[in-house]
Amino acid sequence: MAFPGTGRIWMNGSLVAWADAKIHIASHVVHYGSAVFEGARCYATPRGSACFRLDAHMRRLQQSARIYRMEYPLDLAGWQSAVLDTIRANKLTACYIRPLVYRGYETLGVNPLPNPVDAAILLWEWGSYLGKDALEQGVDVKVSSWARMAPNTLPAMAKSAANYANSALIKMEAIGDGFTEGLALDVHGNLSEGSGQNLFLVRDGVVYTPPLGSSILGGITRDSVIVLARELGYTVVEATLPREMLYIADEVFVVGTAAEVTPIRSVDRLTVGSGRRGPVTEALQRTFFAVIRGEVPDRHGWLTYVYPGEPTAREAAGAGVGVTG
Ligand SMILES: Cc1ncc(COP(=O)(O)O)c(C=O)c1O
Repeated sequence: MAFPGTGRIWMNGSLVAWADAKIHIASHVVHYGSAVFEGARCYATPRGSACFRLDAHMRRLQQSARIYRMEYPLDLAGWQSAVLDTIRANKLTACYIRPLVYRGYETLGVNPLPNPVDAAILLWEWGSYLGKDALEQGVDVKVSSWARMAPNTLPAMAKSAANYANSALIKMEAIGDGFTEGLALDVHGNLSEGSGQNLFLVRDGVVYTPPLGSSILGGITRDSVIVLARELGYTVVEATLPREMLYIADEVFVVGTAAEVTPIRSVDRLTVGSGRRGPVTEALQRTFFAVIRGEVPDRHGWLTYVYPGEPTAREAAGAGVGVTG
């Protein structure tokens, strides 16, 4: 995935050409990782361009910023408008959305407080994250030798840049060892999450996922999948899970804005189930994709259409979509 290097970036309320969207090397964020961010998606649907759960993403951004005492003077509606305006300004139909709040340029030292809190919104086109066959064939993963952050060290519920130093170690180790992705344990040795995805597994028809207390990011896709799985009639259990559940699960899959719903076909070279996407994973994938592609009524109010003339929330919630595929 290379940046197209085009378009305009929202920086503190102004739209700046991609090539000119620069910050000073002495900015606090460059040295101390003092940023929180979001990753959301806007999908091209038959009824127009729709952002998936934009409100939830921007709320999490505000909460991440609050944890790090770097609140930015935009309310939830203001953040959502800023994203929508930036998509419209760039005339994009589908894109990845990356809002970022960071400590800027004033003085260098561990104390972030003297530095300004700046913000940016970047957009770019982004397809399937784990490879184009991954959604059907599944990917091979390993349990990482790197654990997620211990409680009361770096807050896992904040989507902060600093946490991604840990994710990068997990990802690099996995790639170096010939796997697509790494799954991390928490410091107690229980299942946590992937470098950028939440983890689910299925055993005897029950869907399991690690809880917030297992050093996970409270994923918005995770939340959506839990809702959809329950609606499909599955029992979903959020529980502390031992590592070995991965080796005896019938199905394993990871979820996230980037990975969407991606099956895992092997863990530590042990085949998961039949070695291909399992029926529960497939059912959840189908349901999730139907929602994000606007093919079914938006009963949960999860889609925000971007352009004038596209459905309002009320219209999106109604029937009359009639699109298949
Ligand atoms: C560490 C981590 N866990 C989980 C997720 C999934 O979160 P979401 O579904 O909100 O994208 C992400 C993606 O942002 C992540 O980086």
